[in-house]
Amino acid sequence: MEKLEQLYEGKAKKVYATDDPCICIVSYKDDATAFNGEKRGTIRGKGVINNRITNYLMKRLSAEAGIPTHYIEELSDTDTAVKRVTIIPLEVIVRNVIAGSLSKRVGKPEGTELRCPILEFSYKDDELGDPMVNDYHVLAMGWATEEELDAIKDYALRINDYLLKFFSSIGIDLIDFKLEFGKTADGEIVLADEISPDTCRFWDSKTKKKLDKDRFRRDLGDTEGAYKEMLERVFGAK
Ligand code: TMP
Ligand code: ASP
Repeated sequence: MEKLEQLYEGKAKKVYATDDPCICIVSYKDDATAFNGEKRGTIRGKGVINNRITNYLMKRLSAEAGIPTHYIEELSDTDTAVKRVTIIPLEVIVRNVIAGSLSKRVGKPEGTELRCPILEFSYKDDELGDPMVNDYHVLAMGWATEEELDAIKDYALRINDYLLKFFSSIGIDLIDFKLEFGKTADGEIVLADEISPDTCRFWDSKTKKKLDKDRFRRDLGDTEGAYKEMLERVFGAK
C-alpha cells in the first residue's frame, strides 16, 4: 500500500490517501506542541514510539475488549494503514486521578484520588482552545446523535477499564487520557487517533515519576527517555 496525496497535517501526524477510498495512511511525526501550539519542539523517536504503542493497544482493545478501532495494519516504524473516517469533533477525556486542567479547575493537588472515573468532552477547535462541553452541547450542535454519543461513552469507559488493568500490570498508574472517535462510510463509530504518551498521563506506580508528554509541557527533562521507557514497558507486557 502506497501513500498518495496528503489529506491533512496535524500537530503530531500526517494523513495520506491511498488507492483504496476506504483506507488512509497515518504517519507519525517527532514534532511536539503544547498549550494549543504555543510551545513547539521535537521529541526524538516519538513518532516511532507513538505509532507502535498505539497499534499495540488498539489491537488488544479490539481482541480483548471488543472495541472497534480504525486500525488495519502497521506498514513501517512510523506509518499505519487505518480505516478512513470522519472524525467526531470531540476530545473524549477520561480521568482516574486529579491532574492537569482538572487540578486547576477544582483547586485540588495533582494526585488526588477520585471516587469514580470522570468523562469529559472538549469541542475540537484549536481557534477556540478546545472548550469543554457536555452531552447537551454535543446533541444540540449535531456533533453526534444520541446513539453515537451513547456508543462513545460506553467505549470510553470500557477502554478505561481495560487500560487501567493493562497499565497496572506494567507498573503504571493511568491518571487520565484523551480519545477521539470517527465514523466510517458505513456509519460505524470506531476508536481513531492515538493512545500514546502524547495523549495519556502515565505515572510510575511506585515512584510516581511522570512518563508522558507532561515532561515536555513542563520542561521536566529527559522526555525521550520517558517515551522509551513506556515503549519498553508496554512491549514487555504479557
Ligand atoms: P488536561 O488535564 O490538560 O485537560 O489533559 C487531560 C488529558 O488529555 C491528558 O492525558 C492529556 C490529554 N490531552 C491531549 O491529548 N491533547 C490535548 O490537547 C490536551 C490539552 C490534553
Ligand atoms: N494539543 C496540545 C497543543 O495544541 C498539545 C497538548 O498539550 O497535548 O499543542
